[in-house]
Amino acid sequence: MTATVIAGTGSYVPERVMTNAELERMVDTSDEWIVARTGIRERRIAAADQATSDLGLAAARNALAAAGMRAEELELILVATATPDMSFPATACLIQAQLGALGAAAFDLSAACSGFIYGLSVADAFIRSGAYRNVLVIGAETMSRVVDWEDRATCVLFGDGAGAVVLKATDAEPRAGASGLIHTDIHSDGAAWDYICVPGGGSRIPPGHAMVDERAQFLRMRGNETFKVAVRNMERAARKVIDQAGVKADDLSLVVPHQANARILNAISDRLGLAERQLVMNLDRYGNTSAASIPIALDEAARAGRVAAGDLVLLLAFGSGLTWGATLLRW
Ligand code: ACO
Repeated sequence: MTATVIAGTGSYVPERVMTNAELERMVDTSDEWIVARTGIRERRIAAADQATSDLGLAAARNALAAAGMRAEELELILVATATPDMSFPATACLIQAQLGALGAAAFDLSAACSGFIYGLSVADAFIRSGAYRNVLVIGAETMSRVVDWEDRATCVLFGDGAGAVVLKATDAEPRAGASGLIHTDIHSDGAAWDYICVPGGGSRIPPGHAMVDERAQFLRMRGNETFKVAVRNMERAARKVIDQAGVKADDLSLVVPHQANARILNAISDRLGLAERQLVMNLDRYGNTSAASIPIALDEAARAGRVAAGDLVLLLAFGSGLTWGATLLRW
């Protein structure tokens, strides 16, 4: 039977670093509050001439190099993003053109911070069905373009960046011990759509809409409620995929959760009984990069030698929608 294996990972973050000290000069906040409540110390901000596709392109090139694959070999390019370059065409098409991957199908996927796990799930289904053998999944965001820089409750949380994986078909079955994706589990709860949203800029409240307050194009979040649901749902998704695989939290070499808040990550870690060495956390340097956060963290962990062939890795996501999910894979 055909399954999916990660052939290479890559990431890219913009050069510009925005520290908490800089934010202290912009809004009524403090480095102490941000570090204590979120764990974030700095984040990256895209240059004025960089859009989401530019970040995604750089991450994609790094992933292709790691996989030893040429762009022409790609059959599908999937970009998970909540901050596309334009409403249309898809950011995936813009990246496809820059890569020269002209034989591939390309489309975007909207699941906010869970987008990368959703992307893996879609790619895995395409590969398992036999439709494609070489797929590129990118999570890329320029959150700095939708953040309200006058709202201290949200502007301190987010950053820009991109991560990517090259996926290949394999005939060895990961569920029977080979490398590859073992189980993916994705969920949504649209009734809680307003926990995290950018209300303006779409068809409900188009740009220039007469009735709208001018901040409608910026991100809004009900942080407190989101926090509680995030912990509960990520724990549930984690337990589901590890139970399905018949393994225990102890057996996991790495857990790579969406990097939203150190307190969320620590709460999940406590609930699952993880040791510090199992948990990947880089949000102190990047903040919440939405769909990019898991593939950036995975790429950094892989390049730092934190995973070896045969290791079990759990990816965990939560975001606007609400959406959440988990992927269990063998490295
Ligand atoms: N600096 C100083 N004070 C602040 C700041 C700030 N940057 N932001 C809020 N405060 C104040 C508040 O005004 C409040 O003051 P008050 O008590 O006088 O009213 C106080 O700090 C506490 O505010 P809370 O919102 O209760 O703080 P909390 O501990 O809940 O932390 C946070 C807020 C960091 C947003 C947290 O709730 C969180 O991380 N939520 C989850 C975010 C998340 O997971 N998002 C999912 C993905 S995002 C996506 O999909 C795009």
